[in-house]
Amino acid sequence: ISVDWDAVTAEKGGYDHFMLKEIHEQPNAYRNTMLGRIDESGRKVVFPGLNLSDEKIRSINSIHVIACGTAYHAGLVGGAAIERLVRIPVSFDVASEYRYRSPLITPETLVIVVSQSGETADTLAALREAHANGAHVLAITNVVGSSIARDADDVIATLAGPEIAVASTKAYTSQLIAFYLFALYMAQARGTQTEEEVAHIVAAMQALPEQVESMLENSDAIKAYAEQISTHEHLFFIGRGLDYAVAQEGSLKLKEISYIHSEAYAAGELKHGTLALIEEGIPVIALATQESVLEKTVSNIKEVKARGADVMAITHEEHVAGLLKSVDQAFAIPKTLPLLTPALSVVPLQLLAYYASLARGNDVDKPRNLAKSVTVE
Ligand code: AGP
Repeated sequence: ISVDWDAVTAEKGGYDHFMLKEIHEQPNAYRNTMLGRIDESGRKVVFPGLNLSDEKIRSINSIHVIACGTAYHAGLVGGAAIERLVRIPVSFDVASEYRYRSPLITPETLVIVVSQSGETADTLAALREAHANGAHVLAITNVVGSSIARDADDVIATLAGPEIAVASTKAYTSQLIAFYLFALYMAQARGTQTEEEVAHIVAAMQALPEQVESMLENSDAIKAYAEQISTHEHLFFIGRGLDYAVAQEGSLKLKEISYIHSEAYAAGELKHGTLALIEEGIPVIALATQESVLEKTVSNIKEVKARGADVMAITHEEHVAGLLKSVDQAFAIPKTLPLLTPALSVVPLQLLAYYASLARGNDVDKPRNLAKSVTVE
């Protein structure tokens, strides 16, 4: 008997690629990131071992979120969650720009650096700059022994497990979970959310892993759509608010492994220039999950539709029928709180990138020109 076996195949655990395996590991990654950080009553977030005292949290008057690539996109969602739940102004920087804009850093500034690897040179340099100027630095990272974890004042480990594929998936979503928890933790310390409100958000978070599982069990339609777009060279992602943040991540993921050129646009911004690029048959992926801006997003969808775009919408079941009057196809994702929706809406976009890359015959796990950890500035 001969057995076709090698160590890498074994590590893939039955999946064709690490990326697909890591996409499927997300429900457990969510659970692990929450583990031990929600008390038994489900009404309180706890962070054993965090140096940041309640008193220090109450003294913070600005937050800088700094990261690169996908981690930056997680920061966009996470920082928005803090701003909404804690009402502290949050600014966002890609790490390679941070030091060069002379940021205003004081001892009342909390700097949150986000990095899967904990070794990204730009993020590490930004952290050191913030430190040198007296800020308290919190690192959200997947690698506890990393340089970034070592240099930070506080670390929240995402506990997603090793991520091998260059395209980051479970690291991003577990960063979102870490941010949601930390936002709740800050809100408790500053009294900006009641115990009832915290419990409500925590309960919705605890339902996320099963909701992701249900999406992963029903990925055929996304696979078919990925094959459809795989023959195109350009496409657009649009969305408003948190949908725009997720659109940016979806666009990066698609570019990174399928090599299809795509742009993510704030849906309301198209008419200020980019609409000129919309022509007959160009795919536009519209994220339409945020009810508070849904009507506005629909009117932006109509703008691209009127110029011949082929529009696919990602929305909730209850909006599918209505949206189908304006779009060519729609995919429903499970319902959660608007703030938590990115932890679900990104999943079809990860699968879309994966299957588009596969359809184009690319090396999914090792895209050209890229490295998993970027240790040069
Ligand atoms: C994600 O798919 C990318 N490979 C890349 O953008 C990555 O997120 C970025 O280089 C940051 O890496 P880090 O999280 O390890 O700091």
